Amino acid sequence: MKTFLILLAFFALFSSNNALVCETKPSLKINNRPVIGVLAQRYWGSFKQYSKGYSYIAASYVKYLESAGARVVPIFVSEDYEYYKKLMKQINGLLLPGGNNYVGNSEYSDAALTLWKLSIQANTNDDYFPVWGTCLGFEMILFAQANQTDYLTKCESNDVALPLNFTRENIQNSKMFAEINPQLLKILKNEKVTVNYHHNCMTYTNFTKARLDEFFDVLSTNEDVTGLQFISTIEAKKYPIYGVQFHPEKNAYEFIVNSNHRNTPHSFNSILTTQYFANFFVNETRKNFHCFKTQLAENKALIYNFNTEFTGISGKGSFDELYFFKISPSTKTKSSFIISVLLCLTNMLFTVFF
Ligand SMILES: *[C@@H]1O[C@H](CO)[C@@H](O)[C@H](O)[C@H]1NC(C)=O
Ligand SMILES: *[C@@H]1O[C@H](CO)[C@@H](O)[C@H](O)[C@H]1NC(C)=O
Ligand SMILES: *[C@@H]1O[C@H](CO)[C@@H](O)[C@H](O)[C@H]1NC(C)=O
Ligand SMILES: *[C@@H]1O[C@H](CO)[C@@H](O)[C@H](O)[C@H]1NC(C)=O
Repeated sequence: MKTFLILLAFFALFSSNNALVCETKPSLKINNRPVIGVLAQRYWGSFKQYSKGYSYIAASYVKYLESAGARVVPIFVSEDYEYYKKLMKQINGLLLPGGNNYVGNSEYSDAALTLWKLSIQANTNDDYFPVWGTCLGFEMILFAQANQTDYLTKCESNDVALPLNFTRENIQNSKMFAEINPQLLKILKNEKVTVNYHHNCMTYTNFTKARLDEFFDVLSTNEDVTGLQFISTIEAKKYPIYGVQFHPEKNAYEFIVNSNHRNTPHSFNSILTTQYFANFFVNETRKNFHCFKTQLAENKALIYNFNTEFTGISGKGSFDELYFFKISPSTKTKSSFIISVLLCLTNMLFTVFF
């Protein structure tokens, strides 16, 4: 009986949790189980119990991707290179979210640069790996491609909803807007459906100076409150890499209202645009065939392992719901461990020789 139970347990383990879940068969042209990595960033907000040593992901990004048929894996900051390298082989795309961390000087920035290099490497080796940057993520992509030089100009476009000023008449010739129908295109062109929350802008002058025009096509521009023209939508010419300065996810998923958040659109038409961008990017990730080795490994990585906090209840901040993650002390512990070993050894030497 015991042996039978053990056998049964083994069978259950191998048939469910350890079964291969990924659709990597070369014959498959589409991966209908895409898993997208979303990068976390340090939390600087006012929700007290998470004010020290936590990173966060806004649930709006997760819901946005899930609404289009993807699942999300959180990508933590301050991990070692091996962690990012391994994860990249298992996820079907990467989303760099917006937020209030610094480009070029934050754990988010360090992790994003590592992920950027790995993404470029994959795409260069014909491994179709989609990347999307929103707001801070958009700025991060520009920074990474400009050899880590900051070409942003100070500007003011905070809590401002705008229509997109497309750079050409036949924008359906782009990758991002190839599937857009005429009604939705009209909405994007004429209605205030893309909401901006930024104090930095990429101008055409700096874009060209940074030679970013060799890598990206500019699909739309906008103007800040002073009339400064900034680039609002880009796509890489050769790679499935996309960026938007505005926040497509907020229309459907961020309803917080305070002095800094009054103008996020929630109209039916604005929600259609949210759904378009989500569908577009998740479609892209269905063309990637990375996968986790086992269902168990996949399950352990998914964001389903975490719960959201209703941070919007205070009425402060920018987000209704956040996921929080304790920033792993792994790397720091390692170096402090080495230091204490060294100290211990020096102590011993001192005791022996003096
Ligand atoms: C970008 O443009 C602004 C002017 O708008 C300029 O002050 C800034 O230095 C530029 N950045 C670089 C790296 O050239
Ligand atoms: C960035 O570095 C690459 C490779 O070294 C070089 O080809 C490119 O021109 C550089 N771009 C800028 C804006 O300096
Ligand atoms: C739209 O872009 C064109 C071309 O760059 C520019 O002349 C025009 O002022 C822009 N309009 C707005 C409202 O951004
Ligand atoms: C996503 O892919 C489906 C199936 O190929 C297509 O019908 C749809 O138009 C695509 N949507 C977007 C926004 O790219």
